[in-house]
Amino acid sequence: MAEENTGLSNLLHEERHFPPSDEFARHAVAGAELYDQAKSDRLGFWADWSRKLLTWDTDFTETLDWSDAPTASWFVGGKLNAAYNCVDRHVEAGNGDRVAIHFEGEPGDTRTITYSDLQREVNKAANAFADLGVGAGDRVAIYMPMIPETVFAMLACARLGAPHSVVFGGYSADALNSRILDAEAKLVITADGGYRRGAPSSLKPAVDDALASGAPSVTNVVVVRRTGEEMTMTEGRDLWWHDVVDSASDQHACEAMDSEHPLFILYTSGTTGKPKGIVHTTGGYLTQCAYTHKNVFDLHPESDVYWCSADVGWVTGHSYIVYGPLANGATQVMYEGTPDTPHKGRWWEIVEKYGVSILYTAPTAIRTCMKWGEDIPAKYDLSSLRVLGSVGEPINPEAWIWYRHVIGGDRTPVVDTWWQTETGAIMISPLPGVTDAKPGSAQVPLPGISADVVDDEGDPVPDGGGGYLVLTEPWPSMLRGIWKNPERFKETYWSRFPGIYFAGDGAKKDEDGDIWLLGRVDDVMNVSGHRLSTTEIESALVSHEKVAEAAVVGAADATSGQAVVAFVILRGTASDSGDALVKELRDHVAHEIGGIAKPRRILVVSELPKTRSGKIMRRLLQDVAENREVGDASTLADSSVMDLIQEGLKTAK
Ligand code: WT7
Repeated sequence: MAEENTGLSNLLHEERHFPPSDEFARHAVAGAELYDQAKSDRLGFWADWSRKLLTWDTDFTETLDWSDAPTASWFVGGKLNAAYNCVDRHVEAGNGDRVAIHFEGEPGDTRTITYSDLQREVNKAANAFADLGVGAGDRVAIYMPMIPETVFAMLACARLGAPHSVVFGGYSADALNSRILDAEAKLVITADGGYRRGAPSSLKPAVDDALASGAPSVTNVVVVRRTGEEMTMTEGRDLWWHDVVDSASDQHACEAMDSEHPLFILYTSGTTGKPKGIVHTTGGYLTQCAYTHKNVFDLHPESDVYWCSADVGWVTGHSYIVYGPLANGATQVMYEGTPDTPHKGRWWEIVEKYGVSILYTAPTAIRTCMKWGEDIPAKYDLSSLRVLGSVGEPINPEAWIWYRHVIGGDRTPVVDTWWQTETGAIMISPLPGVTDAKPGSAQVPLPGISADVVDDEGDPVPDGGGGYLVLTEPWPSMLRGIWKNPERFKETYWSRFPGIYFAGDGAKKDEDGDIWLLGRVDDVMNVSGHRLSTTEIESALVSHEKVAEAAVVGAADATSGQAVVAFVILRGTASDSGDALVKELRDHVAHEIGGIAKPRRILVVSELPKTRSGKIMRRLLQDVAENREVGDASTLADSSVMDLIQEGLKTAK
């Protein structure tokens, strides 16, 4: 099933493998004994790591309370402050002069932020937000470019116990509005804009539009000046960051929060049109972020320079730019812009400049670099790199091999890390220096994590079999629910196979029992590692006056993994079907959701394939979108529809 949809079936014939080098194995933090420890006492294992990696203000009395399943409570009775753990304690331990963030702006401006600097900036922001009335439990929306103030703002919220809801800067005003409304945010933090592709890209006007559509909960907007472009500031509502934050005191006494205090909400696409507000809490989330960041990347905070190329607007940025690395006292690079600005070697120039030793990026970026050619990275000294990570979608073996060979100089382990917004942190991944790596496979659940592949009945498949990926035991950084929607939480993740977590991914176990991820089995697409819902784009399309019906599929794409392809039926009165209309519809989707959701192709058709119960058979449309022979259409209400669609498309060409 899943295999046929993703075009990744070749993965299973991959026979190359890469045992860890002796040298790496000697230096690796993680040892094979982690697996044994976790196996003999899973909860004791997590309790030990939590106490080892975090500073608890009040120790916890119980590791896991699962009595209210599927809502877990981890490290019950414990109290801690996430910002204190990410900042203050490193300063107290004498590491205040260690660089926390090497910021590299797209235009070439740089900032070096030590842990002491970070402490002052976070304290000032926390004081300023508190002056604006933000307290524990209040939600704060953050709509920002990739600049240090974004990290300051998130940590300031964490310090106050105010859950942040970061909305990716590429989302539209409408998408921002619906997220602000759902979370009932009190404060919005934004910037005039950021730099992308060599030019300022504005953000504040979208906030203005989002608030103009109605957002009664919002009392203030704090705006960082980044690009210096002219902005409209609404009197009494909008405040400049440099006015309110810079003048605030840099001393702030933080309060310890309950282990289960909500740390953030992050909206992600599901199978319906409405995004889900995934809720993460403090103690368990921070434990697993720090544990995975340390062990999966073999982090040595005193000597490594780490760089995660994700945007803070996604969960990868939350867990592996903000909470994991900073909890571990790491030194990291933060880059604002696009990889080809001002030239295609920008990323490798950054690796050389800062001596990056650990790089974490997405397969789509790797494939793009492959396309640009290996002579580009060859111009730079990449010898500082020692661990390479991949995340966001299945990595095809060729991209994996290229990554290890061209970027890693055949020295570096590559870790393919599987996880989701919902899991909060990495779940399935090889351990560098430990696992005999197989290109294209995320391989094994981390020590302390229980995953399996099951069939339609929920029974584990034997080695060599395929089915659905499930998580069979609760884990510390698991989502605690969907904001204001407990029913949807149970229904989405816990009803398919009672008592175990359904991830929505197809997977196979190879002959060694290693796990290979095969893509989503639901109506969720993965475009360049971004998660998009077919239904959400369909509703954006039908909200256009010229569209009567729409069906969206993710078609296999060599660079972006999947590409959005839309089939639309026009309203009776709309006669035009040419390029202008297609452009109009693509722009409409960008306006409704954001540029990332724009369909690559829009095909105007006269009918859509539906079952007798009226469900669109996307599988058949996917065949058309991927130029394949159309599969079994016998369950269609009208079996001639597919012929009609194909005829129509032929004549349109
Ligand atoms: C979906 C989650 C995890 C942070 C970024 C995406 C896919 C993610 C892998 C991987 C195969 C992967 C899955 C998953 N995915 N990592 N290493 N191999 N697939 O987070 O937006 O919540 O998307 O991304 O389909 O369910 P997300």
